[in-house]
Amino acid sequence: MPATIILGAQWGDEGKGKVTDVFAEHAQLVVRYQGGNNAGHTIVVDGERFALSLIPSGVMYPQCTPVIASGCVIDPRVLLDEIEMLDDRGVDPRRLRISSNAHLIMPYHRKLDAVMERYLGRHKIGTTKKGIGPAYTDKFARQGIRVQDLFDRKIFHDKLEATLVEKNKLLTRVYNQLPMNASEIADEYLEYADRLLPYVTDTSLLIWESLRDGRDVLFEGAQGTLLDIDHGTYPFVTSSNPTAGGALTGAGIGPRAIDRIVGVAKAYISRVGTGPFPTELSDEIGETMVSVGGEYGTVTGRRRRCGWLDLVALRYSARVNSLTDLFLTKLDVLSEFETLRVAVAYSSLGERYTEFPRQQRVLYNCSPIYEELPGWTSDITGVRHFRDLPKEAQRYIEFIEDEVRVPIGWVSVGPERRQVLTRSP
Ligand code: IMP
Repeated sequence: MPATIILGAQWGDEGKGKVTDVFAEHAQLVVRYQGGNNAGHTIVVDGERFALSLIPSGVMYPQCTPVIASGCVIDPRVLLDEIEMLDDRGVDPRRLRISSNAHLIMPYHRKLDAVMERYLGRHKIGTTKKGIGPAYTDKFARQGIRVQDLFDRKIFHDKLEATLVEKNKLLTRVYNQLPMNASEIADEYLEYADRLLPYVTDTSLLIWESLRDGRDVLFEGAQGTLLDIDHGTYPFVTSSNPTAGGALTGAGIGPRAIDRIVGVAKAYISRVGTGPFPTELSDEIGETMVSVGGEYGTVTGRRRRCGWLDLVALRYSARVNSLTDLFLTKLDVLSEFETLRVAVAYSSLGERYTEFPRQQRVLYNCSPIYEELPGWTSDITGVRHFRDLPKEAQRYIEFIEDEVRVPIGWVSVGPERRQVLTRSP
């Protein structure tokens, strides 16, 4: 395994948390490289559900060090709550390591995220309203406040006061909101500093040392490829790079360090928030996917939009991430349907597309061109070996592999760790 990236190959919510958790059994380090508490993963261990938004799922294994790397944005209140929750439920969070270079989500980021969405009206992105976009905006505008700033009161105050001048103008004059108070924010955040200090370190160095010593390191992406700020369905994206390149910049390592890049894809597809979605189903089939698949957001509880598997998008994902393997999740949800459909191409504005369209106008007008495959309509949640899957399910998997040209190494048929079938090569 040595260095493996695990990332979402669709619009997020592919079940990466569980996948990382399964892989983490053999890993010494599990690294979150981008995003913040807009992500959410549910891990089921011995029937007990754990919902995590920031701390990598590897925390569940005692040999594993969970790392929140420099490319992440951290809401310290949320992180401390998560640490406390784990502690209360008997999971030791003391191994956690946080990058001193990660940026902080501040109260004005959360506020701005909410009011900006309101202002956009029907053009809204449908963000999680956790302050992610405004925090990354400040990072790139070089006005961000980083974890390390918490440990120097003067720097923290100076940076906060400087940025609040602008933020308060924006809040009061543009968005008609009350201004925020610098000393109240400072009191709150500096109180977090002491509690966070034991976890803070140079995570890039920690990762490098682990790789140098031959340890297994897992890089865990949040959200998914089609939500990538550069390669996703812009502007309906998140403000970071969930793609494989983001793992390198976010963690502070080079491309030669990586051995394997695993794309996680659901056996169908979903998205939350607004934006184009060629295979979306607004009928009974989509409704069944939502109810059987439990397609409601871990973070916001929002209902996810669902549709048939989109192989145009999956091929794109294989390309922009240089995927070495695929992990197919939730195959059991498709047991509901007699006939399955998969999009192999799009038709848009009189043309046929087999590559993911680069132009927004084309993407908006896409209708999927489907291939039909027979379903299996039997309960597969108890299957533990690939060879024991109904032949229609095996055929479905092989069809995807042929189209995407990436081997599917694992298939999951339920939420538990033991419901993962490993495919022998
Ligand atoms: P933001 O990341 O909160 O700025 O939201 C931007 C877009 O990304 C919205 O469409 C969100 O619904 C979507 N998004 C953010 N995090 C996730 C996730 O973990 N899963 C799926 N979609 C997400």
